[in-house]
Amino acid sequence: MNVFEAIQKRREISHYLPKLIPTKELDQILHAAYLAPSGNNLPSREFILVTEKDSLQHLAQATPFVPWLSGAGAAIIITGRPDISKYWLQDASIASGFIWLSAVELGIGSAFGAIYHSEDQEESERRESYVREHLHIPNDRRIVAILGLGYPEKEPPTKTLLSKDSIIHYGKHGK
Ligand SMILES: Cc1cc2nc3c(=O)[nH]c(=O)nc-3n(C[C@H](O)[C@H](O)[C@H](O)COP(=O)(O)O)c2cc1C
Repeated sequence: MNVFEAIQKRREISHYLPKLIPTKELDQILHAAYLAPSGNNLPSREFILVTEKDSLQHLAQATPFVPWLSGAGAAIIITGRPDISKYWLQDASIASGFIWLSAVELGIGSAFGAIYHSEDQEESERRESYVREHLHIPNDRRIVAILGLGYPEKEPPTKTLLSKDSIIHYGKHGK
């Protein structure tokens, strides 16, 4: 599969088969995250792999929008370090994309669970504390997202895409 095929195939997969993901494949996905670029090449993001069922079930209650974590074979928590770089959020987000696409290459589905909430500090604090406490994440790390991983149980419904004209502009905005 080349990169364009992986991008074309990538979807949010939140229903998983009860099948173990081999360690080798999880290591490959983590290696892709490790290779992701970061602003000024600073180590502003970290990754925590979770495979224990109890832990996944606990994390599934971090927000109302991640119940699918309880059925996932694994999860990767992406943390950011504002003390290291002003680009921590972008760095963590790019690494998430690397994780998502490398999972596609391995036939593994992934879903993105937002933890950090930029508009509601209280809600962000509540979600982050919940994850932080469970995984012993130091206070200087922000908790950006949890990506669930697992073998897809079914294909997601076809997605309606916006018109390219409304998203891509040539030369100037609106052209
Ligand atoms: C920044 C971001 C936050 C997201 N947060 C959640 C979330 O908390 N829970 C969830 O189930 N999906 C979440 N998603 C998944 C999107 O809803 C999904 O990617 C989008 O509907 C497009 O569908 P697709 O990934 O199949 O193309 C998030 C995706 C992104 C990029």
